[in-house]
Amino acid sequence: MAKPKVFVKTYGCQMNVYDSQRMESALAAEGYAATGSAEGADLILLNTCHIREKAAEKVYSELGRLRALKAQRPGLRIGVAGCVAQAEGAEILERAPVVDLVVGPQAYHRLPAMLEAVAAGARPVETDFPPEDKFEHLPREGRRSAVSAFLTVQEGCDKFCAFCVVPYTRGAEVSRPAERVVDEARSLVARGAAEITLLGQNVNAYADPAGATLAGLIARLARIDGLERIRYTTSHPNDMGADLIAAHGCEAKLMPYLHLPVQSGSDRVLRAMNRRHTAAAYLDLIGRIREARPDIAMSGDFIVGFPGETEADFEATLDLVAEVGYAHAYSFAYSARPGTPAAGRPEVDPEVKADRLARLQARLTAQQRDFQNGLVGKLLPVLLERPGRMPGQVAGRSPYLNAVHLDAGADRIGSVVAARILSSGSNSLHAALAY
Ligand code: SAH
Ligand code: SF4
Ligand code: F3S
Repeated sequence: MAKPKVFVKTYGCQMNVYDSQRMESALAAEGYAATGSAEGADLILLNTCHIREKAAEKVYSELGRLRALKAQRPGLRIGVAGCVAQAEGAEILERAPVVDLVVGPQAYHRLPAMLEAVAAGARPVETDFPPEDKFEHLPREGRRSAVSAFLTVQEGCDKFCAFCVVPYTRGAEVSRPAERVVDEARSLVARGAAEITLLGQNVNAYADPAGATLAGLIARLARIDGLERIRYTTSHPNDMGADLIAAHGCEAKLMPYLHLPVQSGSDRVLRAMNRRHTAAAYLDLIGRIREARPDIAMSGDFIVGFPGETEADFEATLDLVAEVGYAHAYSFAYSARPGTPAAGRPEVDPEVKADRLARLQARLTAQQRDFQNGLVGKLLPVLLERPGRMPGQVAGRSPYLNAVHLDAGADRIGSVVAARILSSGSNSLHAALAY
């Protein structure tokens, strides 16, 4: 008999991408083959995101589409995983009768037992934070890993920014033991990874039960032969320790790119957001990081239209952006999330929000273009990751995380090559192999 097929559809952040892969491995151990589309799948899992209203609503429109598919194929099973599952739990079963199971991010190792319950006619919901560690109970992938792989080292958040659902959907900060992380990194490298991005909602708050910090973990990982590049994301400004800053100056495998969200440039708004740092403290921190690594590419996240944000507050954000000079950034209009402290506060007019978002995005896009243009003519080490869209083309990444396209080098995928940057497009660089 053919193996049953599972399709895991991923929304949201990289931590969900990593979890989806681990769910596929857990189900492979149960005899499921992973597939890339809903057509022909026997089990569909939506790994969802709750961060903004739009993200959460996407799930229900997808479930609407799946209802038609299930009407044609009654044997199809549908599960909701991820942060919407955690936030809404059994409510999802009520709102979407098509759903067979609901599983929160800390309970993925319970999927096989849940599927047995579904087969017996139940609609199980698992949204506890069980005392056992899900990672220890999820098998690792047996197949080849991507050239650039994700590895979750920390989960959860204790920061409670006033707008954010993550502390509720992912729970308290927990770090995986360094030993386990190093083992998993070795196995990823043995299966073809040349770059590892360490993931955590607050990855720089990483604290191994035995006392290692993120900088200590990076130093250990850097000793793995065959691992060429290390990155980490996402960091909180208040957890940027002196040892981690120093690592950017002396650890050759640690890439010169840092995603360090600030959200706003106004101290008044930062206080209302419960960010627990000022704009000046953030700028001072970046100054220290640039002392350690002058060419570091900075990235950030911004929220515009947080309740109470005035035009002057917004201009303070534009000033901060001008001062930092971001290589890359994400920006969002504030979206009230149920259960968060900011949810009941009077909101900024939607048109004002949209206008501020457009103005901020124009500045950030210009900075990204300037950063990319500044690389034209340079010789950069590029990690070749996969074939490009055009035949013969190869896609890779610069140390600064820019997407780079080359017209040759398909036989060198998985290695770092020297490339001359020829030109800069809207979201990527074009380069030629230098030797
Ligand atoms: N742990 C990370 C990122 C969390 S979510 C951090 O602390 O930075 C990713 C980004 O989504 C946030 O940085 C923020 O910019 C945005 N975000 C979170 N909640 C939001 C909300 N309610 N409305 C709009 N954007 C939000
Ligand atoms: Fe959310 Fe703030 Fe935690 Fe980031 S630090 S996950 S924005 S609560
Ligand atoms: Fe979204 Fe959950 Fe990640 S809310 S951003 S999938 S931690």
